[in-house]
Amino acid sequence: AATPSGVRPGVHYTPQKNWMNDPNGLVFHGGRYHLYYQYNPLGTDHANMSWGHATSTDLLRWEEHPVAIRFDEKEQIFSGSVVFDELNTSGLGTDAAPPLVAIYTSARADGIQAQSLAVSLDGGYAWSRYEANPVLDRQSRDFRDPKVFRYETADEAYWVLVAVEAAERRVLLYRSDNLREWEYLSDYGPLGAVGGVWECPDLFPLEVDDEAGALRWVLLISLSPGGLAGGSATQYVVGEFDGVRFRPDVEPPALMPDAGAAELAAVDWVDLGPDCYAGVTFSGQPADRRTFIAWMSNWAYAGSLPSHGWRGVMTVARRLALRRIDGRARLCAAPVLPSPSGPLRAVGDGGTVRRPLSGATIVDLEVATQGVTRVRLGADERRVDVLVDADAGRLLVDRTLGAPAPASETDPPVANLLGGNVPFAVDRRVVIVVDSGSVEVFADGGSVVVTARADLPVESGIEIAGPADTRVGLTDI
Ligand code: FRU
Repeated sequence: AATPSGVRPGVHYTPQKNWMNDPNGLVFHGGRYHLYYQYNPLGTDHANMSWGHATSTDLLRWEEHPVAIRFDEKEQIFSGSVVFDELNTSGLGTDAAPPLVAIYTSARADGIQAQSLAVSLDGGYAWSRYEANPVLDRQSRDFRDPKVFRYETADEAYWVLVAVEAAERRVLLYRSDNLREWEYLSDYGPLGAVGGVWECPDLFPLEVDDEAGALRWVLLISLSPGGLAGGSATQYVVGEFDGVRFRPDVEPPALMPDAGAAELAAVDWVDLGPDCYAGVTFSGQPADRRTFIAWMSNWAYAGSLPSHGWRGVMTVARRLALRRIDGRARLCAAPVLPSPSGPLRAVGDGGTVRRPLSGATIVDLEVATQGVTRVRLGADERRVDVLVDADAGRLLVDRTLGAPAPASETDPPVANLLGGNVPFAVDRRVVIVVDSGSVEVFADGGSVVVTARADLPVESGIEIAGPADTRVGLTDI
């Protein structure tokens, strides 16, 4: 059957052409969301890493711009972040026109990975490298992915950088007054899932919902391979950051690198699916608007998925929150989407709703308290089934017949039965975003998320079957 994997997604960012992986330098500035990303300006494979660039005002429709920072014979531009240096602490702008500063990993031709700066004085479009790069060099071959944020207390303020010693499964923290000179603070790990290299860390505060003043810090650590569903995935840890050191509230289990699915289930995952990797959050936004975007792929098969002249896609943007569920602060993610087109309607006596699937659609469900609700996306022979049992507290996304094809035989295995326990502590809503090439499922206020690439036929449908009081709303976007 014809498959739409070559049809460009409606609300997921893809570059016009060539290879893309991690989001980089996410920053809200000048009224626009800037998305930079790992990009090969010359082809559809992971090579010649540079920072591509796109902007958006609503996080749904993106406009692509010329390459922001380009590789050269000395270095590739690996992942990193961007901050608005409003006080011109770096001296790289002027007090009247403060700079945007990118902190990226120079993946050098000699094999060393060190941290470097680039500067933009025009609001993020034109970038030039700082002449005294690198600014932080440990002579390591696996020191990368710096995420920088401003740490402020009542009596001091400075920059904090988190990066990884990837092969040692350690997150390293540094501080600086000017973004150019960095002083080591502390490190974290190895702890939790360690079955692969650690990459793309992020560290940020969030208030626990409904608990005024209850500020916790969230540490995101991407891991590849060794994720819950196989291959790449992102774990998170909630704890305290005192300006020097991060301490988890509940210490994650110390797992072996070959830990199986049962042990991995004891770790907190940003997403239970196989296609949410290297996700980080925007800088330049108020504390109660933490927005996250990830690369919607998996290193296990990213290089063997078909290329359509472009290869690589981002997840929808997600607003993050912390909610106390069963005594523990849990990370919840809500997709940033247009409002639903109308109120939810009961599926009624027949218990089934059918309609064609065209482009990007939001399926908004309120699942029955008893019985199983099943959403079938696609057609009989190529489909993804989402099964929700609110009573038993289970979510299963079955993409056995809809996995992105064809993985090469040498690719490491990635699961097609995805999901797990859902507390249904927030509500019984399940939001499914289906677009060309992917399905994203947000359950229970986003305390459980499953993101999966999928290959569904062009002539496709949505069929929702469940108890009569299952309520549903469908919105085309
Ligand atoms: C994560 C990653 C980063 C690195 C980049 C290279 O997917 O491996 O650690 O900076 O991709 O493209």
